[in-house]
Amino acid sequence: MSKEIKKVGILNSGGDCAGLNAVIASIVKKGVPMGYRFVGFEKGWEGLLSPMHYFKLDEENVRGISHLGGTILKTTNKGRFAAKIGEGEKARIPNEILKEAKANLKKLKVDALIVIGGDGTLSGAAQLAETGVNIVGVPKTIDNDLLGTDQTFGFSTAVDVVTEAIDRIHTTATSHDRVIAIETMGRHAGWIALYGGVAGGAHAILIPEMPFSYKSVVKFLKKRERIGRSSTILVVAEGAKPINEPLSTLKEETYKETLLGGISGRLVRKIEEMAPGQFELRNVVLAHTQRGGSPNSEDRILAQRYGTAAIEAVHAKKFDRMVALKGNKIKTVDIEKAVSKLKHVTVKDEIYQMAQSIGIYFGDE
Ligand code: F6P
Repeated sequence: MSKEIKKVGILNSGGDCAGLNAVIASIVKKGVPMGYRFVGFEKGWEGLLSPMHYFKLDEENVRGISHLGGTILKTTNKGRFAAKIGEGEKARIPNEILKEAKANLKKLKVDALIVIGGDGTLSGAAQLAETGVNIVGVPKTIDNDLLGTDQTFGFSTAVDVVTEAIDRIHTTATSHDRVIAIETMGRHAGWIALYGGVAGGAHAILIPEMPFSYKSVVKFLKKRERIGRSSTILVVAEGAKPINEPLSTLKEETYKETLLGGISGRLVRKIEEMAPGQFELRNVVLAHTQRGGSPNSEDRILAQRYGTAAIEAVHAKKFDRMVALKGNKIKTVDIEKAVSKLKHVTVKDEIYQMAQSIGIYFGDE
C-alpha cells in the first residue's frame, strides 16, 4: 500500500501573478482540518534546493492574505531548475538537481508537493514527478497559455488592468487626436491583448500568433484618418512579430526565457519613419502592472477553487496531475500533457472572430 501522506510542501515558481496567495491560503485552510501539515518553499525551486529556504505554513500565517497580490512564498523565474528556455524548447533538468530536490523533500519528511506555476514550472514538476515524487500542479500564468486548462488564475486580473488602461488612454488619445500603442504582456500567446483589447475597445490588436507588417498598420491608420477617426488605440502584445523581423527583446538571459519588451516603441518609431509627421504618436508599456496588485473577484474565486482541488487531489493520491478548469468544472488532467504545448489564439477562436466581425484590425493586409 502507498505511504500515508502527512506533510505537504507548497511551492510557487515563475513570474508572480494575482491570486497566488489565495491558492496558498486555501490549500492550508482546507488541508489543516483534514490532518495535513504544510511547509512552504521560498523563491520557487531554489527554496527546495540546498541550502533550503522554507517555513511552516499554518492557519495563522495564511490568515488575511487571499486578497493580496504577490506571494508570501516569494518567487523567481530563473535558477537551477529551469525546464524551459523558450516555446517548445524544453530543457532537461540535470539529474543531480532532481536528486537533490527529492532528497531534500525526504529530509523534511514531505510526502507530497503542490507546485503552482506556468508551463516552465510545471514542466520541471513533471520531471521531478518522474523520479517518484508525489506532485500535484496548479496552473498559474497571466498569459493564460496553458493547454491543459480553460483558464489560469491571474489572467482575468491582468485583462482588467489592460481594460482600465485602455479606458484611460482613450480619453487622452481623443483629446489630443493621437495614435497610442499600448503594450501588454503575452510572450507566445496573445490572450491578454485580445481580451483586454476587446474589452477596452481597441481599434487594432497585434498578437504573437498573427505577424503583421508595418506597412499594413500605416495603411490602416491612414484609412482611419480618411474617414475622420483622428485617434487610434493599438494594443500590442510584447511577443507580437513584425513580418521578417526578430522579436523585440530587452535582455538575453541564462537559465531563463529572454526578456521581451519594446515592440510598441519600435512600432511607433516605424510608423513615424514611414509616414513622417502624419500622426501624433505615443506608446505606453503596461508591463508588470498586469502582474502586480490584488486579484479581482474572478481570480480570487478561481485561485481558491484550484487550491482546494489541489489538496483534495493529494488526499485522493491523484499524483502527476494538474488541477484544471474545464467548462465550469474543476477537474484534474495529466500534468505532462497539460504542459506539452501552449494554447494559442487561432482564427477559429470565437472572441477573435467576434472582434474581427466588429472591425477590430489584427495586422492583416
Ligand atoms: O510569463 C509571464 C510573463 O509575465 C510574460 O508575459 C513576460 O514575458 C514575462 O513573464 C516577464 O517576466 P519577468 O519580467 O518577471 O522576467
